[in-house]
Amino acid sequence: MAVDESKRDFILTALGSFAGIGGAAAVYSMVKTWDPLPSVVAAGVTKVDVSSMQAGEIRTVEFRGKPVYILKKTPDMAASKNNTNVKVGSDQYTVVVAICTHLGCIPAYEADKKQFKCACHGGEFDVNGVNTFGPPPKPLAIPPYKVVGNTIVLGEEGEEYKKIAPELKA
Ligand code: FES
Repeated sequence: MAVDESKRDFILTALGSFAGIGGAAAVYSMVKTWDPLPSVVAAGVTKVDVSSMQAGEIRTVEFRGKPVYILKKTPDMAASKNNTNVKVGSDQYTVVVAICTHLGCIPAYEADKKQFKCACHGGEFDVNGVNTFGPPPKPLAIPPYKVVGNTIVLGEEGEEYKKIAPELKA
């Protein structure tokens, strides 16, 4: 009985192709398991585009499970004492973890008084997050950040952040 060489070659080529595709898929799957899960990446870094914020506007964002206040300063706020600014272009921002340094309540921002007030024991922080009254022993903490264009990236330490006094860092 004659062997059809062309059919045999076709079958061998097809089997080889399937094996190659299967091998590539196995390698791809293996490499994907080495990447961190998207949820893990998202939990570590929070990116906030502040380009649309108005002077005096405050936003609360979540960073590693904690609230963070981002306040765009008005010119008088930017000129105030205790200034610990985050600069984005020519604008200045207060960026602080919104957890009272006394016993961990969440202070509210009082726009009319330009201060953060903690309702638990009456602690107050100025517009820069510096403790000015009551039991809080130190300023609101500044989370690690870097500025990229119009975006404040929480969770990565830029050069500005590295210059901040260690006791102010989260
Ligand atoms: S927890 Fe804020 S003043 Fe006590």
